[in-house]
Amino acid sequence: MTLTTTTDPPGGYSLDPTWHAERARLNGLAALYDPGTLAICERLGLSRGWRCLDVGAGTGTLAQALQARVAPTGTVVALDVDTRFLEPLAGPGLEPVALDVTRSPLPEGAYDLVHARLVLEHLPERGHVLANMIRATQPGGWVLIEDFDWATALVVDPPSDVHRRVASAIRSVLSRRGYDPHYGRSLPRRLRAAGLTNIATRAESIQVDADPVQGIPQWELLADQLAPHTLAAGLTDQHELDAFHALLHDGRTVCFAPLMVSCWGQVGSR
Ligand SMILES: C[S@@+](CC[C@H](N)C(=O)[O-])C[C@H]1O[C@@H](n2cnc3c(N)ncnc32)[C@H](O)[C@@H]1O
Repeated sequence: MTLTTTTDPPGGYSLDPTWHAERARLNGLAALYDPGTLAICERLGLSRGWRCLDVGAGTGTLAQALQARVAPTGTVVALDVDTRFLEPLAGPGLEPVALDVTRSPLPEGAYDLVHARLVLEHLPERGHVLANMIRATQPGGWVLIEDFDWATALVVDPPSDVHRRVASAIRSVLSRRGYDPHYGRSLPRRLRAAGLTNIATRAESIQVDADPVQGIPQWELLADQLAPHTLAAGLTDQHELDAFHALLHDGRTVCFAPLMVSCWGQVGSR
């Protein structure tokens, strides 16, 4: 794949790819969401020989699973602004590419499937990136976008003020950086406006139980990464953050994750 790479900081990303525990945070998300993403890809016909692009590929677990399904003749490009976790996965049919998708064009009509999960919601340039991804898809190919909608992010049982306050603090800090907590619900409208056809959506809030040993890593690590900012802004305090961690290690707590909206559509002839 011929692309111009960049080492500049990513355009507008509201989180820090270089944070010390980012790998564990991304692995927590992948464990929860890779099976559902793969089920959609299979429904779309993913098979041997397909050329796939995963934008914001993170730790590359999905790219690896896609590669196993398109091998030996297909290829998967795992694109991310930070490819530290992807480089060791390079091999026949799996190509890590370092690129800021807000700044560089993707090759036109090059893929049967172009996917991004939990990426566009973070990027203020999301409209431009979506157009870039659609252009990169060949006529007849599929674009699959998956983003959260925070409609269910505050749902916890038993009800908890600590959970509500810390989750709201996280959302506030992210939103100030250009994150859209309701981007998920807008996906069907945006894919329709972009001219895609055969659009369909699956929206699911996964139940996540607090584990006395593990806690809920992806949720706790997000709170930890943003703690300097939520604390500095006075949106929470250390006592509340400690209580949040205790809650997510309390075996009785049941959380419902933000609504994951997966929306896909097909590119027509140009
Ligand atoms: C929240 S993570 C999601 C990772 C993976 N898609 C998943 O769902 O498990 C967002 C990913 O997008 C990458 N990213 C952020 N801004 C980007 C940009 N401008 N261009 C390319 N990748 C970007 C980050 O480095 C990170 O790996």
